Amino acid sequence: MDTHEIYRYAKQWIVEAGERIEKSFKETLDVETKSNRNDLVTNMDKETEQFFIKKINETFPNHKILGEEGFGDELESLKGVVWIIDPIDGTMNFVHQQRNFAISIGIYEDGIGKIGLIYDVVHRELYHAIKGEGAFLNEAPLDKLQEVPVQNAIIGVNATWVTANRRIDPAILGALVKDVRGTRSYGSAAIEIASVAAGRLDAYITLRLSPWDFAAGLVLVEEVGGVASTLRGEKINLLKQNSVFFSKPGLHEAVLKDYLKDGNW
Ligand code: IPD
Ligand code: CA
Ligand code: CA
Repeated sequence: MDTHEIYRYAKQWIVEAGERIEKSFKETLDVETKSNRNDLVTNMDKETEQFFIKKINETFPNHKILGEEGFGDELESLKGVVWIIDPIDGTMNFVHQQRNFAISIGIYEDGIGKIGLIYDVVHRELYHAIKGEGAFLNEAPLDKLQEVPVQNAIIGVNATWVTANRRIDPAILGALVKDVRGTRSYGSAAIEIASVAAGRLDAYITLRLSPWDFAAGLVLVEEVGGVASTLRGEKINLLKQNSVFFSKPGLHEAVLKDYLKDGNW
């Protein structure tokens, strides 16, 4: 694959898609719910995914596409070149706030993350990386992540996981939340993972994300020396839902050992 050519196109298309989304602010949105009353989708989520699919099919007809809204391919493996796309990550923010949402695109070749792009549309912040060639926020290179102790860390975590829920005893992450310097919850997993890559958050933890939520972020975080795994310390699977833990080094090991007790929960 010609990584640089794909990268040039992907960056151009993501900015163009962002302009289309911003133009839609003046129009009335068509909002529907999906799996539950808080799981929103709009006409712009669908239109944006279709925009990318058309561009990719025209330019790279052999590439495959895994998109959240289901207009792409049904994939059983990551063989070949696969674009993993979340057309709008943070749809609830898009609908309620008209900001704090992002377009997320991870491009993988035979299962290896080659390109990561996360575009925070309204703030005009494009996080981008090619594996092995450094990560950037717009034109500025991102620094390698340094170790941080738990008590100095700001972590991204949703209140869901420290109140009664179906996936984890709230006391487990509750203990971590008490010990860290602070917590944040932005409502867009892609922005939260990009924030780890940019050093704005020291870690991001959540119990259930889909491949399109983290595919781009994984490339970005690994490119700056961050650590990514499930909450049990396993490798993240790009074809299914996972718990995820993106972090600065050092903090990752400490949290797994001292709070998640080496997967003993
Ligand atoms: C959601 C956002 C949210 C996260 C959810 C995701 P969507 O994505 O990333 O922050 O907590 O798990 O599903 O539905 O807005 O693309
Ligand atoms: Ca998402
Ligand atoms: Ca989405």
